[in-house]
Amino acid sequence: MHFISHLSAVLALAPLLSLASSAGLVERADDASCILTASGGDDGPIFVDAVQRCETVVIPAETTLSIATGMNMTGLNDRNIDLRGTVKFTDNMTYWINNGFYFEFQDQIAFWMLGGNNLRLFGGGAIDGSGQVWYDAFATNDTLLRPILFTVYQASNVVIEDIKMLNGPEWINFVNEGQNILYDRINISAVSTSVNPAKNTDGWDIYRSDNVVILNSNINNGDDCVSLKPNSTNIIASYLYCNGSHGISVGSLGQYAGVYDIVENFTSTNVHMYNAENGARIKAFAGPGVGAGIVKNVSFSYFTEGNVDDPLVIDQCYMTNATECAAYPSNVYIQDVVFTNFYGTSSGNEKSVVASLACSPDGRCSDISVSNIYLEPPATYGNATYTCQNVNITGNAAYLFGDCATT
Ligand SMILES: *[C@@H]1O[C@H](CO)[C@@H](O)[C@H](O)[C@H]1NC(C)=O
Ligand SMILES: *[C@@H]1O[C@H](CO)[C@@H](O)[C@H](O)[C@H]1NC(C)=O
Ligand SMILES: *[C@@H]1O[C@H](CO)[C@@H](O)[C@H](O)[C@H]1NC(C)=O
Ligand SMILES: *[C@@H]1O[C@H](CO)[C@@H](O)[C@H](O)[C@H]1NC(C)=O
Ligand SMILES: *[C@@H]1O[C@H](CO)[C@@H](O)[C@H](O)[C@H]1NC(C)=O
Ligand SMILES: *[C@@H]1O[C@H](CO)[C@@H](O)[C@H](O)[C@H]1NC(C)=O
Ligand SMILES: *[C@@H]1O[C@H](CO)[C@@H](O)[C@H](O)[C@H]1NC(C)=O
Ligand SMILES: *[C@@H]1O[C@H](CO)[C@@H](O)[C@H](O)[C@H]1NC(C)=O
Ligand SMILES: *[C@@H]1O[C@H](CO)[C@@H](O)[C@H](O)[C@H]1NC(C)=O
Ligand SMILES: *[C@@H]1O[C@H](CO)[C@@H](O)[C@H](O)[C@H]1NC(C)=O
Ligand SMILES: *[C@@H]1O[C@H](CO)[C@@H](O)[C@H](O)[C@H]1NC(C)=O
Repeated sequence: MHFISHLSAVLALAPLLSLASSAGLVERADDASCILTASGGDDGPIFVDAVQRCETVVIPAETTLSIATGMNMTGLNDRNIDLRGTVKFTDNMTYWINNGFYFEFQDQIAFWMLGGNNLRLFGGGAIDGSGQVWYDAFATNDTLLRPILFTVYQASNVVIEDIKMLNGPEWINFVNEGQNILYDRINISAVSTSVNPAKNTDGWDIYRSDNVVILNSNINNGDDCVSLKPNSTNIIASYLYCNGSHGISVGSLGQYAGVYDIVENFTSTNVHMYNAENGARIKAFAGPGVGAGIVKNVSFSYFTEGNVDDPLVIDQCYMTNATECAAYPSNVYIQDVVFTNFYGTSSGNEKSVVASLACSPDGRCSDISVSNIYLEPPATYGNATYTCQNVNITGNAAYLFGDCATT
């Protein structure tokens, strides 16, 4: 908070210097700090320019920046964005479909890329994606490209904290080729107000990144709460409240022939998961022509769940049936996985089944431990049941699954 008091002091004393051609948009408070307010038009280029020029850009609480052009804020060094107000993207779908920043990975486009070294975005304000028009359009066009709300791209030593992320058209956060990235106290809400759901609004997707930490956040959305895509290493996703999501997900991995996917060292603890498809999940493709990879050293602990379809899942036969999975097992090996201290209730969508560990044949899952499991289905389904195939399970809840060495 040192900077804030310094800024206030300077503001009180110094005449403000205008940087932008149209007066009053960017005001220099001192050598390092600028205040950015709305221009009435497209604030995108002014915002990008301000971040390049000023070590700290302050967006005051009463300001809503309207962003009508993609913001490429990559290649920055030592920058702070103190977002107290709102950054709102326009709902001009034609523009964004043709001008969003393109990522080949899963055919994605993005509104805003932040990258470089030693960056901080904070301040209690909001990023608003005007998602409703996209949710409605996607209902009649399932190939519609929809922009990711906020992308951290080729970045290191980044802190994103105390920010609201509202109604992203698609994924909310994408961490692509990042190292040492912390997200703390992020509130995500992507909820449709029409009959058309807010689809694919993943809270976080992590890809080709190392040491990403997500803490103390509330997520209300319509797809994965946190998803570890290929090459996510040393990741923590903890102290989260997820509602309406598809869970904390490792994968899907091993989708593409010739590609090797790694997830290693992942911890997720103290997660509250409600009204979700999954609680904790690891998912890898099987079938002809799939890729390969490894999931190693993953720990899910202290999950409290309510109304969750599949509270605890490994699916190493994703997109196949048992026959096909036996013929074409997954080449993504899954090793050293701990599920411990799971509480709560399933939705009954899987009747009495509350946990499922389905592995490909030939010992492709190993060292899978399950302990302290207190999950129940809704009362109408009776006692909880547990399913498994092709896996030796250890831990004090292994007995619940019975003999899983074959199907
Ligand atoms: C974004 O900006 C960086 C740094 O200025 C530049 O190298 C890169 O080509 C830009 N990317 C796009 C997609 O415009
Ligand atoms: C939307 O963007 C297109 C350019 O892609 C532009 O021609 C059109 O005027 C914009 N519409 C609005 C309402 O701003
Ligand atoms: C769906 O949206 C894409 C743009 O992402 C567009 O190219 C395509 O023509 C649309 N399809 C239909 C059926 O409107
Ligand atoms: C996020 O939600 C929590 C709990 O409701 C609240 O205390 C916090 O101020 C919110 N943070 C932001 C940035 O809105
Ligand atoms: C949680 O999600 C459910 C269904 O997805 C929704 O009805 C409910 O309003 C959400 N709760 C909160 C606190 O947003
Ligand atoms: C993951 O990392 C490994 C080892 O560096 C590399 O061979 C592989 O191509 C990477 N996979 C992806 C999807 O980037
Ligand atoms: C497993 O990952 C955790 C962090 O998630 C790390 O502390 C631990 O050392 C790792 N264990 C091994 C055997 O690599
Ligand atoms: C996983 O954690 C262990 C123990 O800290 C470390 O030795 C190993 O390098 C980590 N793996 C990766 C891929 O970073
Ligand atoms: C399993 O999947 C294969 C390939 O899609 C299909 O040919 C076969 O009929 C399926 N078997 C069963 C029992 O559903
Ligand atoms: C289970 O363990 C036994 C004894 O080590 C081993 O022979 C068997 O292959 C294992 N089965 C699986 C599915 O890992
Ligand atoms: C449910 O479990 C209880 C306690 O283990 C047992 O007494 C009861 O018979 C079981 N009920 C059914 C329907 O299996």
